Amino acid sequence: MPGNPIPTYTRKIDVWMPRLHYFHKNSNLFTFHLMNPAEISQKIAVLRKDIAHHDDLYYKKATPEISDFAYDGLKSELARLESSHPDLGTGQSPSTKVGDDRLEGFVTYKHRQGMLSLDNTYSQQELTDFDDRLRKLFNRDNLAYCVEPKIDGLAISLTYENGRFTRGVTRGNGIEGDDVTRNLLTLPTLPRELKGRGIPPLMEIRGEVYMTVAEFDRINRERELAGEQTYMNPRNLTAGTVKQLDPAEVAKRRIEIVLYGVGYCENPPWQQQHELRDYYKEWGLPTVEWTEHVVGANAVWAAICKLDTLRHTFAYGTDGAVVKLDDLALQRQAGFTSKAPRWAIAYKYAPEQVETLLERITIQVGRTGALTPVANLRPVLLAGSTVARATLHNADEIARKDIRERDTVLVEKAGEVIPAVVSVVLGKRPASSVPYIFPSVCPECGSPATRSAGEAVWRCPNDDCPPKLRRRIEHYAARGAMDIEGLGEANVEQLVSKGLAKDIADLYSLTLPQLMTLDKFGDKSSRNLLAGIAESRNRDLWRLFFGLGIPDVGAQSAKDISRKFHNLTALMNATEAELMQIDGIGEVVAASIVEFSRNERNRILVDRLIAAGVNPQAPAPASTGDSPFAGKSCVLTGTLPTLSRDEATALIERAGGRSASSVSKKTDYVIAGDSAGSKLDKARSLGVTVLDEAQFIALLPEGMRPTKG
Ligand code: IVH
Repeated sequence: MPGNPIPTYTRKIDVWMPRLHYFHKNSNLFTFHLMNPAEISQKIAVLRKDIAHHDDLYYKKATPEISDFAYDGLKSELARLESSHPDLGTGQSPSTKVGDDRLEGFVTYKHRQGMLSLDNTYSQQELTDFDDRLRKLFNRDNLAYCVEPKIDGLAISLTYENGRFTRGVTRGNGIEGDDVTRNLLTLPTLPRELKGRGIPPLMEIRGEVYMTVAEFDRINRERELAGEQTYMNPRNLTAGTVKQLDPAEVAKRRIEIVLYGVGYCENPPWQQQHELRDYYKEWGLPTVEWTEHVVGANAVWAAICKLDTLRHTFAYGTDGAVVKLDDLALQRQAGFTSKAPRWAIAYKYAPEQVETLLERITIQVGRTGALTPVANLRPVLLAGSTVARATLHNADEIARKDIRERDTVLVEKAGEVIPAVVSVVLGKRPASSVPYIFPSVCPECGSPATRSAGEAVWRCPNDDCPPKLRRRIEHYAARGAMDIEGLGEANVEQLVSKGLAKDIADLYSLTLPQLMTLDKFGDKSSRNLLAGIAESRNRDLWRLFFGLGIPDVGAQSAKDISRKFHNLTALMNATEAELMQIDGIGEVVAASIVEFSRNERNRILVDRLIAAGVNPQAPAPASTGDSPFAGKSCVLTGTLPTLSRDEATALIERAGGRSASSVSKKTDYVIAGDSAGSKLDKARSLGVTVLDEAQFIALLPEGMRPTKG
């Protein structure tokens, strides 16, 4: 076997997260001699319970507490103990079952062929053992394999009948899963119809739904702006999204799909795994972009190493390589264990970790006053990018890991994306080191920090604290909110530090001479900024509702609210019950709005905004009588040149129409943009009127046509 060209991971057993101590304290050499049968039986019970707990968090709630690596450690420890003590039984053990992702609220659907999991390993030796087992089974040398990326998403099974997509189901418990067809119909890249040679009359196509890092970042940025908790990683966000009960919610996020396998299939045209991918491509199904068709264990390992250097360039997160026997007849012969095929194995890449120096811990003050500790690191290259900062989450997290300034720490990217400090390299701690003491006062304004019962976060309670004020103004002026040109971070900083803006209402009384005193501000830039601020008085109402920065009110909630409350005064007088009648507004958002409007300071701010002429009114509910869309069913497909999906949907609704997700005989209009796929074909075959964006806008009654908000 060639040497290991995968970057070496700096991993120190004694400093891993607490869960991994199972590896350390209880594994192989140590415990088999030290634990008596009663202890082993107890250990097994504890592991089973722990794994069941983590399965519930991962599969059902999409909010795991531990990394996949730590979880795999628990599973392999359990499997090892169980196999050396078969007398303790494995009937009910998580080691013999696949996870269960079924949720209340979905109809379940039985897979025609069971949807199993994969055995996985972090060890090169176990890959060789896998090949040895198969060679022995078939009494053959030089078996051919396909090596593919292992996509870190949510497993899905699609049924196609005579080339038509009829059902999408999650893995569930491997036997039956949740029917998420309506949600999958919102995916722009899922073909409704397959085209090409050899399409089987009935087949279950297996694959993974996922989210690109770019889409994940977009959603998290939006949530951050709205003061909402950000998501941990794209995998959890995908799982949480596909498991939404309302397809309209799914359509707001871009979910992608990739297909790599097959379940039940009548008359398959392929004999080998690598041919399957070629057929999928031909039929228009998105497939893995990289695969290698190799012979023998050495070549498998070389492909796995090659994939490790390539995988960071893929659109989806990958946590390993899947090795599959190429010959499908041999696959059938090898068969399955209770939870996984014998003809495939996943090699998982251990998360790349690097050591670096934690130079300083600084505290960031957020818009809502949250004091977030940040590790300022000696810059270091990690999984494709340079990392210089990592969040430390909160005071409890620092205490739990005993992280100190000047410590050498291990850093990894949580879910391949966000840098996180895993642990401290205690052996490199300087003798003079002292525990980190979380500040009891806000480091920016000196106000005593407060913490509500049950909350992990300390906050600065002072609404005049400069960074809080800066962030409120930045949020108000941001492109996604009031869109004030020229009011970025640097200029807001100047306005606040010179005392020219003490709140957002002050922006509207700024004068030319005042702006001229700012750094790098001449006559032209000052006039431009004043014009940008003046223009913002006429933005759409939802932008103002969002821009106020009410905790938990994101852009979508602001849009929903503006459909019922048509100006600022109406919002400030809204009751919780009235707000909760709005589709999409729950208890948390309603309570937050009422808390905001009861605050005297906010009432004064809103009065001042209104006095300054910032008082947009929602367009009066349009009479839709003269709208060609009144009472009509419209379907959007493809990417429109200027309108987002949300904007186009809002226009359809304002014009009295209904936005539907699939094309049928009942569809009145299909509005099609770039890369419109099978919906467009279907509309044409059914004779439904197809409009492009310009035709759609032209048909809208005057006064309902979009303007820049
Ligand atoms: S083949 C019988 N190929 O990883 C199971 N699975 O951890 C055959 N996965 O259950 C599965 N990428 O959901 C296969 N290229 C790939 C994959 C892949 C991701 C998932 C799949 C599987 C899980 C096991």
